[in-house]
Amino acid sequence: GLPDRVTIYEVGPRDGLQNEKTVVPVEVKAEFVARLADAGLTTIETTSFVHPKWVPQLADAEELLGALPATGDPRPVLVPNERGLDRALALGVREIAIFGSATETFARRNLNRTVDESLTMFAPVVERARAEGLWVRAYVSMVCGDPWEGDVPIPQVVSVAKRMMDMGCQQLSLGDTIGVGTPGQVTALIGALGEAGIGADRLAVHFHDTYGQALSNTLAALRAGVTTVDASTGGIGGCPYAESATGNLATEDLVWMLDGLGVDTGVDLGKLVSTSRWMAGRLGRPSPSRVVQALSPK
Ligand code: HMG
Ligand code: MG
Repeated sequence: GLPDRVTIYEVGPRDGLQNEKTVVPVEVKAEFVARLADAGLTTIETTSFVHPKWVPQLADAEELLGALPATGDPRPVLVPNERGLDRALALGVREIAIFGSATETFARRNLNRTVDESLTMFAPVVERARAEGLWVRAYVSMVCGDPWEGDVPIPQVVSVAKRMMDMGCQQLSLGDTIGVGTPGQVTALIGALGEAGIGADRLAVHFHDTYGQALSNTLAALRAGVTTVDASTGGIGGCPYAESATGNLATEDLVWMLDGLGVDTGVDLGKLVSTSRWMAGRLGRPSPSRVVQALSPK
């Protein structure tokens, strides 16, 4: 069966804009977030409190949060370490996401740490955040394959995921960072996590569409009981530290499929498409989303 309702966890302002060659002005980012909210997206990952030299595209995190109107809706931000948590708490952030890796190579490239060292870095972040009453998501990346290490065994993913969830995180987002996964892998991974005590009710899926598999993988995850799906409006994005990573599943492509299946998302597709067309103008290139292309005048 399929769920009646799916929560879309929008990552365009963060995963989308972190990989752009040009630095998008903070006013444009603020308008992007406002338009996404107006289109009915309730959960919007806005930015990252990472080292500004590592991701210069998001170095304006403080300014952006300062420019956004207060809302009761979830506005998670990425936080890798205690320095990032301090910055987020100073701005009144209530939802954070730590981001680990299933593989050593990506942990090293993305976090300058081994997997063990990165978990040691995250532990006090989660402990302090939970003590402050924050909601904490844990991403685990490279769950379906790694550009340097190739196939990633499911037990390896489960082991890292479990160590992150045991810290006290409320949600686990499964990142197919380079988009190589296929639906059978997704079903098997969700099954193995369930056996390890991490049920589908605590999972989200985060698919990049590099190989055109994101929607099929999403459908497999929904059939396995997942009800939170990450997507990026316009399909922009990718990770600057992951070779061959391209954009996330486009939010419009996801909404088109869910509308057709009669699954409620609360999102207005027309408003989302006009947001992507507006953003494409700011970025200077068309949206890679098939739905945006199909619904745009020729
Ligand atoms: P490091 O160089 O090892 O940092 O980087 P450090 O701990 O050695 O600290 C060095 C200096 O940086 C210190 O300053 C710190 O204060 C400062 P100094 O004492 O030398 O003057 N510093 C910071 N400043 C501001 N904010 C901070 C911060 N941290 C340290 N938060 C670090 C380690 C983790 C910081 C770095 O590797 C980093 O920022 N990495 C982030 C990379 C990133 O954002 N990647 C993209 C997101 S992940 C992704 O896209 C995948 C995902 O979408 C899921 C999927 O698709 O799979 C989530
Ligand atoms: Mg990503």
